[in-house]
Amino acid sequence: MSGGPIDPSHREETQSSVNAAGMRMFIFSMAAAMLFFVYVSFLSGGVDLKEVKEVAPEAAQTVAAAAPEKPVDVSGITEPWIEDERMVAHGKKLYGVNCAACHGAEGKGDGIAGASLNPKPRNLIEGKWKKGGDSLGLFTTLTKGIEGTSMQGYSHMPAKDRWALVQFIRSITTDKVAEKAEDVAKKAASLK
Ligand code: HEC
Repeated sequence: MSGGPIDPSHREETQSSVNAAGMRMFIFSMAAAMLFFVYVSFLSGGVDLKEVKEVAPEAAQTVAAAAPEKPVDVSGITEPWIEDERMVAHGKKLYGVNCAACHGAEGKGDGIAGASLNPKPRNLIEGKWKKGGDSLGLFTTLTKGIEGTSMQGYSHMPAKDRWALVQFIRSITTDKVAEKAEDVAKKAASLK
C-alpha cells in the first residue's frame, strides 16, 4: 500500500493517508513553533533574570549603606531624653520607617508622600519650629501631632521611641534650640 505505486482503486485511501501525513506535519510544525515561542519568552528571556542577579549584590549594598548598620540596643536606657548616641541611632531607624516618606530621607521635607501636602512637611534640617524645637516641644509635637495638618500624633508609639526621634531630629537640625538638660529632665519624666 504505502510506498507502492498508486493504484486508482485505492486513490481515496491513499489521499486520506496523505492528508494524515500533512496533519502530522502541521502538528509537528505547530509544536516546533510553540517550543520556539517558549524558548524566546522564557529561556532567552532569562537574560533579564541574569541581569537582576548581577545587579542584586550592588543594590543590596546601597540599601545596606542607607539603612542603619545594626539594630540598636537601647534597653538599658532609663532616661531616654538624655543625649545618647544609641538613642540617636535608634531614632534614625524609626525615622526611616515612619517619617521619611513625608519628611524626606535626609529630613529636608522633600519626601514623596509629602510633595502634594499643604502645609508641606517641615524641613527638619532648617527647623523654624512652629511648636518649639527644644526636646520637650518636639516630644509634644510627636505625641499630639499638629492639628489641621497631616502631621499626626504618634502617641501609639512607645515614649522611648518618641524620645529617640526627638534626639535624632536634634542631631540633624541646624536649628537646635538651646535647653538645659536638668530642665528637660524635670518635666520629661512625667510625660507619657
Ligand atoms: C503624612 C506626612 C507626615 C508624616 C508621615 C510625618 N510628618 Fe511630620 N509633619 C508633616 C507636616 C505636613 C508638617 C508641617 C505641619 C505645619 O507646618 O503645621 C510636619 C511637621 C513636623 C515637625 C515640625 C514641628 C514644628 O514645631 O514645627 C516635626 C518635628 C515633625 N513633623 C516630625 C515628624 C516625625 C518625627 C515623624 C515620624 C514619626 C513625622 N513627622 C511624620 C507631615 C508628616
